[in-house]
Amino acid sequence: MADLTGKIAVVTGASRGIGESSAKTLDALGAQVILSGRTLSDLDRVAAELSNSPIVVPADLAEPRSGTELAETILEHVNGVDILVNNAGIPMRRMPEKLTEEEIDLVFAINVRSLLTLSIALAPSMKERGGGSIINISSVAGIRGPGARVAYAGTKGAVDAMTRALASDWGPDGIRVNSIAPGLIATAIWEESRNTVPGLIEEMEGQIALKRWGFGDDIADVVAFFATDSSRYVTGETLVVDGGLARVTASAQPQVLPELLE
Ligand SMILES: NC(=O)c1ccc[n+]([C@@H]2O[C@H](COP(=O)([O-])OP(=O)(O)OC[C@H]3O[C@@H](n4cnc5c(N)ncnc54)[C@H](OP(=O)(O)O)[C@@H]3O)[C@@H](O)[C@H]2O)c1
Repeated sequence: MADLTGKIAVVTGASRGIGESSAKTLDALGAQVILSGRTLSDLDRVAAELSNSPIVVPADLAEPRSGTELAETILEHVNGVDILVNNAGIPMRRMPEKLTEEEIDLVFAINVRSLLTLSIALAPSMKERGGGSIINISSVAGIRGPGARVAYAGTKGAVDAMTRALASDWGPDGIRVNSIAPGLIATAIWEESRNTVPGLIEEMEGQIALKRWGFGDDIADVVAFFATDSSRYVTGETLVVDGGLARVTASAQPQVLPELLE
């Protein structure tokens, strides 16, 4: 079993969903986890369930300079970090003609700018510690071309592109940079639609080869893979974790094909 004892991990968006699951998984593997997000009460709730002296550092990553300032605060608590999970993100479901400039700025500020500035500000401390692992949470939206999500898809495509570019820049320093592109994960991002749009759950399930939505743990286990030495020779990659959605044709009950195949 991989062991992260003695490692320090930062998880943004750790107050719920994929970030909460990732923080718990990294803690279970022995890492000391620094949890960030806006909502202190939620961060404290998650921290209370962790074992390895977790640290809570609230931040609003929509604000200019917030990624850099979050890194500065983190480095007041610890000497450096080994693992960074850039998970904080917001959705933006709009038809292109309904999007405002403010909405475009907001989703790019959180999903792209702060991810990059936090990474830039923490990378030197990773280098000093002999290397590290940065794990960016992107989305199948950056790969698939989803409807009514142009701004969100743009941010996630940017995350995958920056993942490859940073892997090139920081590979010589022993810093690996990878991204995970989740598919449909049942978190707060979907909660309202799952409860209010009739048939949504089943219809989306029908598009997934494994015929189920994902859960935070499905992503957290892959975060653990990228955080540990199990992935020591992997960098600049995007791993799609979607149960077979973006790149797989979900099978229905075969109608015509069986006759063709016999
Ligand atoms: N769920 C899915 O189906 C899915 C699919 C593909 C990709 N993703 C990506 O996975 C990541 C996590 O999503 P999730 O489903 O776990 O969503 P979630 O449950 O809504 O969690 C989002 C996290 O980001 C934090 N956050 C939001 N705005 C922030 C801000 N301005 N500053 C700092 N933190 C902020 C939230 O904390 P506070 O509200 O306390 O700030 C929360 O901890 C996102 O990047 C998302 O795009 C999700």
